Amino acid sequence: MDLQAILDGIGAEMAAAPERGRVADYIPELARVSVDHFGMAVCTADGQTFTAGEATTPFSIQSISKVFTLAIALGRLGDQLWGRVGREPSGLAFNSMIQLEHERGIPRNPFINAGAIVVTDAILAGHQPRELLGEILRFLREAAGDDDIHINRAVAASEQAHGHRNLALAHFMAAHGNLLHAPELTCGTYFHQCAIEMSALQLARAGRFLMGGADGGRILTPARRRRINALMMTCGHYDGSGEFAYRVGLPGKSGVGGGILAVAPGRASIAVWSPGLNAQGNSQLGTLAVERLTRATGWSVF
Ligand code: DON
Repeated sequence: MDLQAILDGIGAEMAAAPERGRVADYIPELARVSVDHFGMAVCTADGQTFTAGEATTPFSIQSISKVFTLAIALGRLGDQLWGRVGREPSGLAFNSMIQLEHERGIPRNPFINAGAIVVTDAILAGHQPRELLGEILRFLREAAGDDDIHINRAVAASEQAHGHRNLALAHFMAAHGNLLHAPELTCGTYFHQCAIEMSALQLARAGRFLMGGADGGRILTPARRRRINALMMTCGHYDGSGEFAYRVGLPGKSGVGGGILAVAPGRASIAVWSPGLNAQGNSQLGTLAVERLTRATGWSVF
């Protein structure tokens, strides 16, 4: 199989694609990014790397950061975490409030905003926000084998200035006793974690520990890796998770910056970036690109 030829074909198709979705505009700093970008990187289990398009251009990883904070939280708290957040798909938008009211302030899963805020709150315990953000960056830099990974302060400030919905989610959970810190402190940390910038190449490298194999166990036990992959498959694309599983057939996590991290267990870690989003807030061309890749490689888990 000629993976580079497959990626070249996908890159050419995406460069010419007429329907590119719409960039997120509820975080004004993200609205300034052009829909024309496309970048993709694939790291295979045998240590090779393949890229297409703007694979080394940094973008805002946004909700993809939730995979890494979940890995840190499970490493630190183990199954105790599940007392504060569930493991079921929500079937609702990533920023929805509805379920929280009916379900005693326990978010459905760690990938919707409410669930990710709880995860950040849990690992903030005993730390200053600055220390935790340093730990998240260290985790990413070690996993990617690349120290050039940073937080975009302008994006964090932009989200903070328009963060009413996330603050409302945090206050609601605090009212139910499911938040350890002040909503402003936990959300401030969460906004900065979402504002981390990485390229598709850095992200694909950072995701290698999720595909298993040789040295993945250094970062995460095989049991935890399987569980994070299960959550990515069922919840990683919010109310578009069923559609992503149907079309792509891989565990994946999207972000409103237009990135997607997908895992072909035992085979590859895949990252793609195209800022235009579909109606569910997931990258329109990113989804199409990973769909094309799994169709050409037979990497769907099904
Ligand atoms: O909290 C937010 O709304 C953003 N920082 C992250 C949301 C996100 O990436 C949803 N993904 N598609």
